[in-house]
Amino acid sequence: MADKQMILVTGACGQIGTELVSALRVKYGTQQVIATDIRDATVDVSLHGPYYRLDVMDKDALYKLVSQHQVTHIYHLAAVLSATGEKSPLTAWDLNMRSLLNVLEVARTEKLKQVFWPSSIAVFGAKAPKESCPQYALTVPSTVYGISKVAGEQWCQYYHEQYGLDVRSIRYPGLISYSAKAGGGTTDYAVDIFQQAVNNSYYHCYLLENTRLPMLYMPDAVRATLELMDAPAEKISVRTSYNLAGISFTPQELAAVITDYIPDFRIDYQPDKRQQIAESWPSSIDDRQAREEWGWKPAFDIKAMTADMLLHTEREVISTDCLES
Ligand code: SER
Repeated sequence: MADKQMILVTGACGQIGTELVSALRVKYGTQQVIATDIRDATVDVSLHGPYYRLDVMDKDALYKLVSQHQVTHIYHLAAVLSATGEKSPLTAWDLNMRSLLNVLEVARTEKLKQVFWPSSIAVFGAKAPKESCPQYALTVPSTVYGISKVAGEQWCQYYHEQYGLDVRSIRYPGLISYSAKAGGGTTDYAVDIFQQAVNNSYYHCYLLENTRLPMLYMPDAVRATLELMDAPAEKISVRTSYNLAGISFTPQELAAVITDYIPDFRIDYQPDKRQQIAESWPSSIDDRQAREEWGWKPAFDIKAMTADMLLHTEREVISTDCLES
């Protein structure tokens, strides 16, 4: 039996939140997972359990929910992503940092048991190796999103070292999913391409055909998150954030696999500003530490992911915009 947990999720209507909330409810019980977001609830997260509108920048509102519901765990997913962040850098910095500090503070003062916070491959920049980028490569990012993730990782480690807070984190690659739309990221093409392939047999890609990026299918990402949070504390040596790898591919390679299922699928390429962001990131990630310390292993390769995405994209209606990838 899983430990009794009272879980609060921020950014619950986003790309990760939509699926993580469901997985947490299955694992811990519907009433044990309070979904929150700044927006009105989407059907996925509100129909099946408690939902509250929460602006996580509002410290008092966050404290109130935590104490009213005797929250023990927070999964803090609300954030502005890389491409949106570049349009309004100071807003992105303010939201990403202040919301994290609000969560870390409430966790410290209310003695919460655990916090999960996602970091990203965006922590890496031009000074990091492109191939198999190591856990401790230089983190000199070129986006404000990356800067906020590097700073956030340091804050997580600080709260762990100074206050003993059990905060855990994963540097997610680009996440691919069908339940909720990706929104505002550089890796979003790998989600949008499926909708366009199914509906129009055509995709106009904003990255160049040979832009290789690290990606991960959402079922793997959700499982990784639950496994990291379940791992015994003595196995967790990284208190900034763990590198995590799934699949690395280029738009051209993904298009080729989609063509196996949709033979008349066509793609063309016209890079926009996101190309520069993509080029600043590694093309593959060395996640040895996650594998060795808490047993991480991805299940989906590009073929299995594509088959599953196409199966569900045909059946599902895309329902939300996302805050975090
Ligand atoms: N998916 C994110 C983005 O593209 C990276 O973590 O911004």
